[in-house]
Amino acid sequence: MMKLIQSVFILIAVLMSTAGAEEVIYAQVGETVTLKTTGIMQNSYIYWHFGNENAPEIAWINRFGGKGFNQWKDQLSFSDYSLKISNIQQHNFGTFLCIVKSGSSDTKTIITYTIFKLNVSSDPDSPLMPDESLTLTCDVEAPRVQKPQIYWLDPQGTKAGIKGGKVTLSATSQDNGQWTCVVTNNGKQNSTAQISVTVVDLSPTPSVQYTSKSSSFAIPCSIHPHVTWKQIKEKDLQAAYWNFSPKSSSGHISGEQMLFALSVENPVEWKKLDQDKRLRPVPNPDKGNLSLIINDVQTKDRGNYICELVFDNSVTLSRSIKVDVLEIISSPGTELILGQRVSLTCSIGRALPSDVKVKWVPPTESSLQALKSDHHPANLTILEVGKGDGGKWRCELWRNDIRLTSAVITLKIESTLRVWMLVTVCGATVIVILICVLVLILYRRRQRKMRHISYRLCQCKNPKPKGFYRT
Ligand SMILES: *[C@@H]1O[C@H](CO)[C@@H](O)[C@H](O)[C@H]1NC(C)=O
Repeated sequence: MMKLIQSVFILIAVLMSTAGAEEVIYAQVGETVTLKTTGIMQNSYIYWHFGNENAPEIAWINRFGGKGFNQWKDQLSFSDYSLKISNIQQHNFGTFLCIVKSGSSDTKTIITYTIFKLNVSSDPDSPLMPDESLTLTCDVEAPRVQKPQIYWLDPQGTKAGIKGGKVTLSATSQDNGQWTCVVTNNGKQNSTAQISVTVVDLSPTPSVQYTSKSSSFAIPCSIHPHVTWKQIKEKDLQAAYWNFSPKSSSGHISGEQMLFALSVENPVEWKKLDQDKRLRPVPNPDKGNLSLIINDVQTKDRGNYICELVFDNSVTLSRSIKVDVLEIISSPGTELILGQRVSLTCSIGRALPSDVKVKWVPPTESSLQALKSDHHPANLTILEVGKGDGGKWRCELWRNDIRLTSAVITLKIESTLRVWMLVTVCGATVIVILICVLVLILYRRRQRKMRHISYRLCQCKNPKPKGFYRT
């Protein structure tokens, strides 16, 4: 069996010899290349030459385990019978000959390997700013007839730029990552080369954010996770700001005010420009999180927030985030009398976007448990509040299956009986006070009258002792 396999190998070797086997390899400077010699070994002596057959031998190996290197000693090694060239340099590009001599017969097989230089470059170098023009080039230093086909794969793995191995684009965050140049020969992938592209940008954020009154909320703004603070500095960051344009009650956005400014010199920190103690950015902005936290959110916090990074040449990166604050408004109030009519409104201070749905969660005992349909109105009217309507009412905003935010209101329902009791008690108190006042007035009047009588009595010569007039 072994014999048969060996003879097959020899046969293949002979065939290859007659076919003048030639292999083409494309490699970048610094790469490791293996010149593979599968299927020709076992009984052989192998000699490697660089350039041509008559050039001095660079390495050899035989079936007895003997091997030697005459040139590029720190770069060459054997992996089985294949020749491995590590850290390829300019002088290693060219033609290698592998001469296989069988031990038993006098067959001689020559395999030619040609290593062509593959160049991959980016112009300009990373990091880049969004919209900056970028050209990626991938080409092979080979004679025209031996030029391979080249294409690029973007970081998402999509084919791009088939023309002459060049890709030109206007940079976006999508372009960030590893680009791969694929070199093919006769339709077969021969080699790949990678180049990494960094685009300095902020992370994408939804342009509208929902929160609710009295809650604590972080308005998101962060540097894209693949970008380091060092790269931001490299692009000459001059300053960063948080600006706010409040939305007035009439609905329009008024003038912009600056809330915070970032000092970019060490230490990198936010400077407060606004008096509101409820606002503070996340500490350590150089870790990439520039979010702004609002504690105890109020309806006056509605409006547009702009997170802005200003670079040299006045290039700016910014994100504008509209903040909607949800609140529940109860009319006439939160303290109600049994049987009273009440209207609850779930409001963000403007019409709800069509893709945002309201969901009410009434107290468990509420008569409005019947709110079964999926389409809850933003405005609920309870014609006569019942005992069970007292407690927490929650209004939630949903988009598809995501709960955006929720607000809670607590209703207190007083029974009429208690109200009447209250009225009675108050009334009684008032009557008692009135009686007291009346008694006091009557007493005073009587006292004054008495004093008058006593005065008249004292007009006589011998005034009687006090108490006399008590007849
Ligand atoms: C930034 O910080 C806020 C508040 O601590 C947090 O909610 C948010 O998830 C952080 N963002 C990132 C991108 O780490």
